[in-house]
Amino acid sequence: MNNLKVLISENDLKNRVKDLGAQITRDYAGKNVCVICVLKGGVMFMVDLAKEITVPVTMDFMAVSSYGSETSSTGVVKIVKDLDESIEDKDVIIVEDIIDSGRTLSYLVQILKDRSPRSLKICTLLDKPERRVVDVHVDYVGFSIPDEFVVGYGLDYKQLYRNLPYIAIVEEVE
Ligand code: IMP
Ligand code: MG
Repeated sequence: MNNLKVLISENDLKNRVKDLGAQITRDYAGKNVCVICVLKGGVMFMVDLAKEITVPVTMDFMAVSSYGSETSSTGVVKIVKDLDESIEDKDVIIVEDIIDSGRTLSYLVQILKDRSPRSLKICTLLDKPERRVVDVHVDYVGFSIPDEFVVGYGLDYKQLYRNLPYIAIVEEVE
């Protein structure tokens, strides 16, 4: 078993997600926003965030797989599930669970920019700035966290723990 230590409580997540939703609502006043969830990690955050946005929201989903070890990515990214709708001329926000090296996201941004959205912003729940290898501009960050492997609220270790309502550090890995 892995030992879990709570890093961000359910209540702190709720409050921060509320703030981010309010900020996005202000920034997109008078516009529609197309929220793109990067599966599977971003799903909990995306649905909770969308509930806090009061301008019109459309949602789409994308799944990418990075060819890497279980706890780090190589930056070689494959689209496993593409978006259903075109993003041309739309105001798009990519919703991510966590930015680590930045490789996955910088690749995604490149792909999506080629599809001519009107605007493209990035919103991540968690950021590990110490781990950054590729420079990506992130517009909205929930929490900056130290260089620890975390699970919960969408994030997994070997596909487990995504359902935890809080973020925890995995202390012992078998
Ligand atoms: P990057 O390409 O290195 O930025 O990797 C980002 C992806 O790696 C995230 O979308 C996660 O799927 C995964 N990842 C990075 N750090 C963690 C972590 O601490 N816990 C769970 N998944 C992580
Ligand atoms: Mg992810």
